[in-house]
Amino acid sequence: MKVFQIQDDWSMANLRIATRPDPKPGPGEVLLRMKAASLNYRDLLVPLRGYGPHTGTLPLIPVSDGVGEVIESGTGVARVRVGDRVCPCFRQGWIDGPPDPAYVNLGGPLDGTMAELMCVPAAGVVKVPAYLSDEQAATLPCAALTAWSALAMDDRLSPGARVLVQGTGGVALFALQFAKLMGAEVTVISSSDEKIARARALGADAAINYRTTPEWAKATRDITGGQGYDHILELGGEKTLPQSLLCVRTGGTISIIGVLSGGTMTAEVGRIVMRQARMHGIGVGHRNGFEAMVRALELHRVVPVVDRVFDFDALHDALATLKNGAHFGKICIRH
Ligand SMILES: NC(=O)c1ccc[n+]([C@@H]2O[C@H](COP(=O)([O-])OP(=O)(O)OC[C@H]3O[C@@H](n4cnc5c(N)ncnc54)[C@H](OP(=O)(O)O)[C@@H]3O)[C@@H](O)[C@H]2O)c1
Repeated sequence: MKVFQIQDDWSMANLRIATRPDPKPGPGEVLLRMKAASLNYRDLLVPLRGYGPHTGTLPLIPVSDGVGEVIESGTGVARVRVGDRVCPCFRQGWIDGPPDPAYVNLGGPLDGTMAELMCVPAAGVVKVPAYLSDEQAATLPCAALTAWSALAMDDRLSPGARVLVQGTGGVALFALQFAKLMGAEVTVISSSDEKIARARALGADAAINYRTTPEWAKATRDITGGQGYDHILELGGEKTLPQSLLCVRTGGTISIIGVLSGGTMTAEVGRIVMRQARMHGIGVGHRNGFEAMVRALELHRVVPVVDRVFDFDALHDALATLKNGAHFGKICIRH
């Protein structure tokens, strides 16, 4: 089978097309013919061994998210059948409940989705709805589930809640779409007025350009009539968290998700205490959460926002486009 793999040493230049023997499903496994993949910010870090020893060993097939058709089952597989279209879960081994320390991630350290064929445990796949294209379905395992875990698990969001979303990338737009589904009033911050217009068309109630208003906490707080946000999805990290702590409502939640502006925490601890803010680290999510999310997607016909689709061989162009940050939503790969 044809694959992309990082080989010889860790670097983007060593991410190359190669061939490997076709895999065969063992007991409890399914063999997938991959149809599409989608990129996440982490796919830029993996070729650089950005997760240290947790990145895995070489050669490594990159990219965490994808969708494929089941073409063969090993013995003892009952959850899915040949012909089903499924996404492999990003966190293999985390089925439900609190984070299972035994889970392992696809696309580093486990081989990822940039392969023609892929073998995964049947317990670690989720069927996707028929109304989604392959590219749309490929966006679900990381970006969508992360936004879903932040907003929908543990009954955190009530209708009428005020939600703030940072940027217009993959996680952010799913968060906007899910928060609107749940009846929330959503503010988006973005670097671009053009992207703000598109976010409004997707349902954003208000928006602030964080480039022209770098200290956006006051402007956003004013949008809430001074009350502050019930829930903030923190995707920026270092530069955005201090602003988030100024516009979260007393007793509100900040989901700590991303580090787009840096990973060092410089926030005032006193402010967290004064605001009695709940800071909750999110780590994508478990398989049963994925299945619950798929039910909601299907019922409400939520359409993932796909910015561009690249051919399999153009992975480097797709990664460069992601790095450039001009995208709105997800960048996908057609197998
Ligand atoms: N914890 C988890 O489970 C989890 C799961 C998935 C992703 N993540 C993390 O979440 C972050 C976002 O991931 P993604 O895949 O959605 O990325 P992405 O699609 O590449 O999104 C990038 C977008 O974020 C916005 N952005 C960049 N810097 C910003 C800043 N300083 N303030 C506000 N917005 C900013 C920009 O939108 P505009 O151009 O509109 O400004 C940019 O286009 C990454 O750090 C990623 O590692 C974490």
